Amino acid sequence: MNKQKLKIAVLVSGNGSNLQVLIDAQKTAELPIEIVGIISNKEDAYAIKRANKAAINIAVLSHTSSGKRMKISTFEQHALNQLKKWQPDLIVLAGFMRVLSAGFINACPAPMINLHPSLLPKFKGLNTHARAIDNHEVYHGCSVHVVTAELDAGTVIAQAILKIKTSDTAATLQNRVHELEYKLLPWVVHLIAKGMFANDNQKVDFSQLATPECLPALPWKLAFFE
Ligand code: GRF
Repeated sequence: MNKQKLKIAVLVSGNGSNLQVLIDAQKTAELPIEIVGIISNKEDAYAIKRANKAAINIAVLSHTSSGKRMKISTFEQHALNQLKKWQPDLIVLAGFMRVLSAGFINACPAPMINLHPSLLPKFKGLNTHARAIDNHEVYHGCSVHVVTAELDAGTVIAQAILKIKTSDTAATLQNRVHELEYKLLPWVVHLIAKGMFANDNQKVDFSQLATPECLPALPWKLAFFE
């Protein structure tokens, strides 16, 4: 793991700015990763353009092709076949906006992490920035967690934290959290690529997330206070 490149598959649904951070880090070799393929469940996702520009394999498994919504089970079957061909060490959900079934998650050929725009366990689901403001939160941020069958509920590996400003709106907060995401996701991927969560066979393994006692307990936190 720590000598070879970590093979990553990325699932996206939209803009793909976090995907871009990983693409750039691969290009400059700042991270020891190889993005072996990208899956988009939206045919108009800007992330597709990013993948094409970087000449990375992209599978567009759209839910709405020919005007008909692809069933999630059909999407999962196609996605699974594709992932098995690519054989990633790690699957990264970076702005992937569908809930995946337990069957799919368990059948995936690699462990999976998700980037979520809140300080889990607070604000699972959507509209996290507006909900944080409405709830008068002092702190907000983003989390990278292990994907399990329960939505946004797997072990949180790391979080990046900011202080909400009185002037913040949902939109400004979203932008500020995005800046944190661009640090948090590569940091976690870096730790994984360096073997922080590898088993004896050097495979990524989240089944036991214990880390050395001299390190802080999970989730590891990055604070960005002005
Ligand atoms: C991010 O805010 C991420 O936390 C959430 O979806 C958004 C994706 O943004 N899961 P982008 O597509 O990477 O620009």
